[in-house]
Amino acid sequence: MIGQGRFISFEGIDGSGKSTQARLLFEALTAAGHDAILTREPGGSPGAEEIRKLVLEGEPDRWSAETELLLFTAARRDHLERTIRPALAAGRTVICDRFADSTRMYQGLRSGDLRAMVDALHDLMIGQEPDLTLLIDMDPEAGLARALERGGGEARFESFGDTLQRRMRQGFLELAQANPERIRVIDGARAIDAVARDVKAAVLEDMT
Ligand code: ADP
Ligand code: TYD
Repeated sequence: MIGQGRFISFEGIDGSGKSTQARLLFEALTAAGHDAILTREPGGSPGAEEIRKLVLEGEPDRWSAETELLLFTAARRDHLERTIRPALAAGRTVICDRFADSTRMYQGLRSGDLRAMVDALHDLMIGQEPDLTLLIDMDPEAGLARALERGGGEARFESFGDTLQRRMRQGFLELAQANPERIRVIDGARAIDAVARDVKAAVLEDMT
C-alpha cells in the first residue's frame, strides 16, 4: 500500500542504548511484516555519511559552533531528501537513530545561545518532525561508561564529558515535557529486553 509511512526517531545521550533499541525495533517491525527502514544521523544517505566523518572525527575545536550547526543541518537536509522522504512517501516506516532534537541539544546547548539559530535553521531548511520520538533516558555517567567501553574512532563528542552530558539529559527531558504528544520518555537504565518492551508498547500505542 502506498501512503504516508510513520517517522520514528530515537534520542538520548551518548551510550543510552539508542542504536541497540532502534535495531531491535526495526527487527521486531520487520518480523511482524512491516515495511521499515533503519537509518541514522548524522548520516543515512551517501552525502550525509561523508559529512558525518567531517563532524565526528578530528579535534573538538575543529569547527566553530556555527559551522558545525551548518554541517549537521546540511547532512540532515540530504538525508531527508534522499532517504527519509522517499521512504515515507512509499508508505514505509522510518526508524531514525537521532534527528533534530539532537541538534537542539548538542549544538543548541554547547556554546552560549545558539538555540535560536538552531530553531531558525530547522524551520528554514528541515521543517519536519518525527511522528514519534522515543527518548531513552538514563544517568549520563553510566551512559558515558557504556559509550567509552564501546570504543570506535568517533570520540569528538564523547570527549566533551560529563557536565555537558548532564545538561543534555536535562534538556532532553525538558523537550519531552514541552512536546508530550510527540516524545515518549523510556527508562534506559534497565536490561535491554525490558527497555525494548517499553519501546514496542509505545510504538504500538502510536500506530493504533
Ligand atoms: P547509543 O546508540 O545510545 O550510543 P548503544 O545502543 O550503542 O547506545 O549502546 C552503547 C553500549 O551499551 C553498547 O555496547 C551496547 O551493547 C550497550 N547497551 C545498550 N543498551 C544496554 C542496556 N540496556 N544495558 C546494558 N548495556 C547496554
Ligand atoms: P551517534 O553516532 O548517534 O553517537 P552515540 O551512538 O554515541 O549516541 O552520534 C554521534 C554524535 O553526534 C553524538 O555525540 C551526538 C552528535 N550529534 C550532534 O552533535 N548533533 C546532531 O544533530 C546529531 C544528529 C548528532
